[in-house]
Amino acid sequence: MNGPLVLIGMMGSGKTSVGKELSRRLDWPWLDLDQALERRFKRSVAEQFKRDGEAVFRRRERDLLRELCVSGPRVLSAGGGVVLDASNRALLKKRTTVYLQAAPRFLVERLKGTQVGLRPLLRSPDGDIGTLLRLMAARRSPLYRSCARITVRASQGTASAVAGRILKRLGV
Ligand code: S3P
Repeated sequence: MNGPLVLIGMMGSGKTSVGKELSRRLDWPWLDLDQALERRFKRSVAEQFKRDGEAVFRRRERDLLRELCVSGPRVLSAGGGVVLDASNRALLKKRTTVYLQAAPRFLVERLKGTQVGLRPLLRSPDGDIGTLLRLMAARRSPLYRSCARITVRASQGTASAVAGRILKRLGV
């Protein structure tokens, strides 16, 4: 397998925890795209959305994905919206991209305990993140599928079990 291995999927699908687990098992560096953007622009993702706007954030995300996809083996956990851009999708199709698929009800459970403030797209006036996630997942699922080499159920088992299934499916 030629690196990088890129994890995509909705917020709360476990891209971070599974990414760390894959990095440990493969002994490859792990990088989270959102964290890298926060370091580079010295602003949290929420602040980038608020002050710079989503369009600027998406452009930064696209440029960084391009940079990180050319260099050596590594595990990349991408932000949930990375597939919204057609050129990102074209790039992901050429890499080892894994879709962590999870039902919205599972995502709601996972995201319940997290600070919504950290995820600007989950801010809703009535606080109903279930509806937001369902709508988002319906729109994005075909996009995730279209660029993934494999799709793995993220709601079954621990991060370690999910990582194990990914490596098995990839024949590593
Ligand atoms: C987003 C997901 C977030 C982050 C930003 C936008 C999205 O990343 O990039 O808030 O559009 O789904 P995670 O999927 O890591 O939470």
